[in-house]
Amino acid sequence: MQKSTCISIVLIVVVAFMVPSCSQKKLTPEKTIAKTLLAQTDSFATICDQLAAAIENGSTSIEQLQNIFLQARLAYKKFEWAAEYFDPATSRLVNGPPVQEVEASGQVLEPAGLQVIESHLFPTYDSAKKKELIGQLSILKAGCEKYKTHFANIDIFDWQVFDAAKLEVFRIMTLGIVGFDNPLTLKSTQESAASLESLKIVLAYYNDSDNTGGLAEKLDAAAKYLSDHPDFNAFDRMDFITAYCNPITAGITDLENKLQIHVIRYNRLLNQDAKTLFDTNAINVNAYAPDHSSFITNEKIILGKALFSDPILSGNGKRSCQSCHQPEKAFTDGLAKNNIIDKNELLPRNTPTLINAALQPSLFYDLRVNSLEEQSHTVVQSQNEMHGSLVLSVKKLWLDKKYRQMFVTAFPYEDKNAIDTFEVMNAIGSYIRSLVYFNSRFDEYMRGAKTAMNGDEINGFNLFMGKAKCATCHYLPLFNGTFPPRFVKIESEVIGVPVSATVNRIDPDQGRFDIVHVESFRHAFKTPTVRNAERTAPYMHNGVFATLNEVVDFYNKGGGAGLGIKLDDQTLPADSLRLTAKEQHDIVAFIGSLNSKLPAE
Ligand code: HEC
Ligand code: HEC
Repeated sequence: MQKSTCISIVLIVVVAFMVPSCSQKKLTPEKTIAKTLLAQTDSFATICDQLAAAIENGSTSIEQLQNIFLQARLAYKKFEWAAEYFDPATSRLVNGPPVQEVEASGQVLEPAGLQVIESHLFPTYDSAKKKELIGQLSILKAGCEKYKTHFANIDIFDWQVFDAAKLEVFRIMTLGIVGFDNPLTLKSTQESAASLESLKIVLAYYNDSDNTGGLAEKLDAAAKYLSDHPDFNAFDRMDFITAYCNPITAGITDLENKLQIHVIRYNRLLNQDAKTLFDTNAINVNAYAPDHSSFITNEKIILGKALFSDPILSGNGKRSCQSCHQPEKAFTDGLAKNNIIDKNELLPRNTPTLINAALQPSLFYDLRVNSLEEQSHTVVQSQNEMHGSLVLSVKKLWLDKKYRQMFVTAFPYEDKNAIDTFEVMNAIGSYIRSLVYFNSRFDEYMRGAKTAMNGDEINGFNLFMGKAKCATCHYLPLFNGTFPPRFVKIESEVIGVPVSATVNRIDPDQGRFDIVHVESFRHAFKTPTVRNAERTAPYMHNGVFATLNEVVDFYNKGGGAGLGIKLDDQTLPADSLRLTAKEQHDIVAFIGSLNSKLPAE
């Protein structure tokens, strides 16, 4: 960008928004932004102090306490874009989900922050919670100190500001407007508007004199739309995303390109160059590959596909991956549970689809492995599934002329005289990474094809994102539990799936508890994708529901707890969603619009 324009814009903005002493200095955008962030963190800390004092004093009305809390969260929303980007660990403490989380190291993180405070203040405040609330507020204060140290000391680069701003818009689309972090107050439109307004200020530091693409106006229009439509259930998410958010993220990308900002790219799920969350190039299928050398190539995919359908990997020479993951059934088998190999006994779980399975940082219903490579190793050797041996298989494969040639082509090392077991795992993993499709009618609609979805389906999307709360677990745009917009972890949830559709007793499978041994994870299962769900019946880890109507009915009743099953840690709210028959129909219709167009075999 040209220095002179940059400085004059900075000056205007500085005069308008910063403390007077700053107006004398000529600051670069990054330095000005760091100062703004420090000031915003201070205002947030001040409101937290006010809330703590009001709670301590004991005579403040509940309504007033609630009001101060809402002010605090609005203050946080103003710098959320930077807090989440530059210091995600602290943001987990300030605005993390109100449930326990387990780190890869096994460390258990207790719930903390604004969402926990919300649950103590709404729908009403119980003074018995005073001590806990004060404790939570001191966590927020400590968080503010960490942010301040951070903002005062790190170098903020221009490309990071653009990346973080775009991610904040994605955060608003995927979490903000679905009420993810304000389930009881549902102030999502007001709070999202606060975030957008502060992005406008940040991006104005960079805007050129001709206001490329009218970015400021687009941000204003989106914030106004949010303020004009405060009713959570009635809010038209489809309109907001397609008419307001997509043009903003495209505008941010255009401005960045125009300024020729040098961008450092790294390997992550959401490509930094994507103009919208729904671009054909938005998703990087190699995001969760173990390392750069295990990225996909055509040769690996062809080899992986051959191995996938070949019983050579199984102990009895009769079963292949495809026996259960059948391409014509969207890579499932249509059964509640398949058979254990060589036995007339059922496997413990339902066969999941492999379409878009590569877009999960951990796999299996209990999230017990962290890559497709690790996963295929587990399945081949599993006594129940393939009962094979990779060590024996690679010997057999090397003796087979056709396979030997394919391995040499796919993994061309000098003096190759054997197959490494990892090459088998990586070839199969690469094949599964090739089964990523974002070409459903929904995707086309999001890219501008206005006739790709009908009215019922659009209404179903709005319900999925709003009143029915589905998108608070099945996140846009993957519709699984991979957490946006950073997509580094995938969540498991306790929804209380029963042992059968007619018996209201919890299914005995302990799910993630068996892996992490933390009580709140008893009966927790990975949130699977609902893309292609129309084709993957029956549903849930035990295949208990035969149709999508049954699934929606289950949610409408409040999951297992709503059915009267005693569950202490259900993460799905137990109250009825009060969906009408037409609304339930529309949600199912919407799920139908998520079918991928699969290539003919
Ligand atoms: C006997 C049926 C069967 C066979 C054969 C089989 N699978 Fe599976 N697959 C399953 C079941 C059941 C699960 C879920 C298990 C769980 O979550 O504990 C699963 C899970 C998976 C997952 C994880 C998906 C996710 O979203 O978490 C992948 C990937 C996978 N299988 C790939 C393969 C590959 C590759 C092969 C061949 C090497 C294979 N499977 C063979 C039944 C089978
Ligand atoms: C609290 C988080 C949560 C919410 C809210 C939620 N889901 Fe789920 N969903 C899950 C989990 C976890 C599973 C897997 C449960 C299991 O296998 O036992 C699941 C499974 C499903 C499945 C089955 C997928 C398959 O292939 O078996 C469908 C379909 C589904 N959900 C649709 C919905 C719809 C529609 C809504 C809104 C009405 C919704 N979900 C709300 C967490 C959630």
